[in-house]
Amino acid sequence: MNILILGSGGREHALTWKLSQSKKVSRIFIGPGNAGTAELGTNLPINPEDFESVGRAVRDNDIKIVIVGPEAPLVSGIHDYFLADGFLKSIPVIGPSKSAARLEGSKDFAKDFLTRHGIPTAAYKTFDKSNASLAPAFLRSLEPPYVIKADGLAAGKGVLIIKDIAEAEREVNDILGGKFGTAGQKVVIEQFLSGIELSVFVITDGHSYILLPEAKDYKRVGAGDTGLNTGGMGAVSPVSFAGKEFMARVKERIIDPTMKGLAEDGIVYKGFIFFGLINVGGDPFVIEYNARLGDPESEVVIPRIRSDLFELIEGVAEGNLSEREIVTDPGFFTTVMLVSGGYPGSYEKGIEISGLGKTSDCVVFHAGTKISGNKVVTSGGRVLAVSSPGGTMKEALEGSYRNARLLSFDKMYFRPDIGFDL
Ligand code: AMP
Ligand code: GLY
Repeated sequence: MNILILGSGGREHALTWKLSQSKKVSRIFIGPGNAGTAELGTNLPINPEDFESVGRAVRDNDIKIVIVGPEAPLVSGIHDYFLADGFLKSIPVIGPSKSAARLEGSKDFAKDFLTRHGIPTAAYKTFDKSNASLAPAFLRSLEPPYVIKADGLAAGKGVLIIKDIAEAEREVNDILGGKFGTAGQKVVIEQFLSGIELSVFVITDGHSYILLPEAKDYKRVGAGDTGLNTGGMGAVSPVSFAGKEFMARVKERIIDPTMKGLAEDGIVYKGFIFFGLINVGGDPFVIEYNARLGDPESEVVIPRIRSDLFELIEGVAEGNLSEREIVTDPGFFTTVMLVSGGYPGSYEKGIEISGLGKTSDCVVFHAGTKISGNKVVTSGGRVLAVSSPGGTMKEALEGSYRNARLLSFDKMYFRPDIGFDL
């Protein structure tokens, strides 16, 4: 069967790598993909948010299943676009409908969902221009720091954590005034939760779900969790504090009520759900939902899946996921992201990457690369994710760092302390 994977990052390379090992998959197309996916399948020069060209690629290449990597096409309704087309409606899209993707696309929607269904999350209130005058009083009812979020997708920049009350009030006004464009038509103000975060993933066909390995992602650019937020500088799996007891709480208090809540609200969800959780003294709370897999979490979660991932994808497509199983590797995987100098601020692109043939006992997932002539060059802030296995986290990290040092491009940077807190 031919499949199409939409996206161009490390997550999509990891999906391509894993699905290319399935006996049931004949050809993989990736739109638009990167230099890494080009080695395993056929890159198509399409924009995942241009649904017409995605539809054309599906017809032209006899694609039978579409797997959506990033959130933007889901939030803008690629699943619904397929369902509304006489031909495309028979092609399963792995990724939720527009209505279901609001769990990621609207923080107000997600908080309302969580609260209505009694799922642990930080206390909050939503404001828009009509009730903005009440925001200062709500801020004053909370302890600092203040957590202020633009409602919609803001390219990972829409969450502010501010200590000073006057600055917090100003930010609320700036967001409602258009600082993040239409993403800031509403602002969610939340109680600050103190704890350690982790990412938990399930795949669901709308009826049952299968839990994937959990991971911890390192979002800040600098060592010791300092500096600006990034898309993620590295990840580890498994997560030491996510033992049996904690994960039983996650299932009972968070995953099961989420699935039940979706059913009660009449929302059919087909695809991956990413639970961004925080462990507060042993109790899990939801920080956010995402309608997709994480990146760089995928670069450690997917290598830990021993069984055929396509079996689960097919289970979602056919609505019989309850008959499928996952086998996971009990060992560790870690990934270290090699990024362009300057990231997450401005950085150069098109820099030649060297050392790609020198690595061993690891998988180098391409996150922001492209082929230029006969060279592989950088094409994004996050460039390569070096994923290594190990019997312990330390052993896996040694592999990631040993291999990271064999790779190079001008102004390359990586965090030296992934896993430091575990
Ligand atoms: P989000 O985009 O909602 O995941 O927020 C980005 C980051 O902000 C999260 O990964 C957390 O580190 C932090 N954050 C968001 N909400 C809260 C909260 N209520 N309490 C503490 N930290 C938070
Ligand atoms: N690594 C966090 C995310 O994918 O949103």
